[in-house]
Amino acid sequence: MRIQVNITEQLQDYIADVSLSEPAPLRELRKETSRLDERNMQISPEQGQFLSVLLRAIGAKRTLEVGVFTGYSLLRTALALPAGGRVTACDISEEWAKTALGHCERAGVADKVDLRVGDARESLAALVEEEGAVGGYDFVFLDADKEGYETYYEHGLTLLRPGGLLAADNVLWSGLVIDESAQDDETRALRAFNAKLRDDERVDLCMLPFADGLTLAVKR
Ligand SMILES: C[S@@+](CC[C@H](N)C(=O)[O-])C[C@H]1O[C@@H](n2cnc3c(N)ncnc32)[C@H](O)[C@@H]1O
Repeated sequence: MRIQVNITEQLQDYIADVSLSEPAPLRELRKETSRLDERNMQISPEQGQFLSVLLRAIGAKRTLEVGVFTGYSLLRTALALPAGGRVTACDISEEWAKTALGHCERAGVADKVDLRVGDARESLAALVEEEGAVGGYDFVFLDADKEGYETYYEHGLTLLRPGGLLAADNVLWSGLVIDESAQDDETRALRAFNAKLRDDERVDLCMLPFADGLTLAVKR
């Protein structure tokens, strides 16, 4: 049976009512971020919860995040990791990194966070040179500049263990990926990224029409 549910606003409220939970430190982070002009960069509470469930399901201990902003996905990750777990996170902005780290400190999980400030192209190139990094990661989350996705993906695959999972956010880009009149750099980069993953025999792939589009790729 093939059924497609139309997710109305009421149904969305129902889903939230029967399934969504958001720990207090994340609620506080979201409240603070809602005052910023850039607030739409933040992932939704539903996506955060999905991320958390994924991490628990695969028993992730060591993860990588590219694109931190004020730290919603980072804090979700740090809260989901077991004691001794570690998330390496990259952001180009000193200001966002400081904000994110502050939230992790207040939530008591800063010891699980290794935050690297700078262009992620450089941070990741340096990370793959570190002892024990290659093949040492269980999970990678891509959510930074879209022009960088291909580079972040390549480094991410190098860092993932076989069977490790990579998630890439915004792969539908508000639907612009199928709008031929959209020819800006970010949209073109996402089209190229999506086509590259479709043809990549190093991974098993699926694309979820969740939020702004989420690709999941398991390293073979
Ligand atoms: C969409 S936001 C990330 C949202 C975040 N995952 C959350 O849950 O709130 C994208 C982030 O990528 C960062 N970014 C943009 N270009 C970057 C680059 N070249 N290297 C590292 N980070 C970059 C931005 O500073 C911004 O904080």
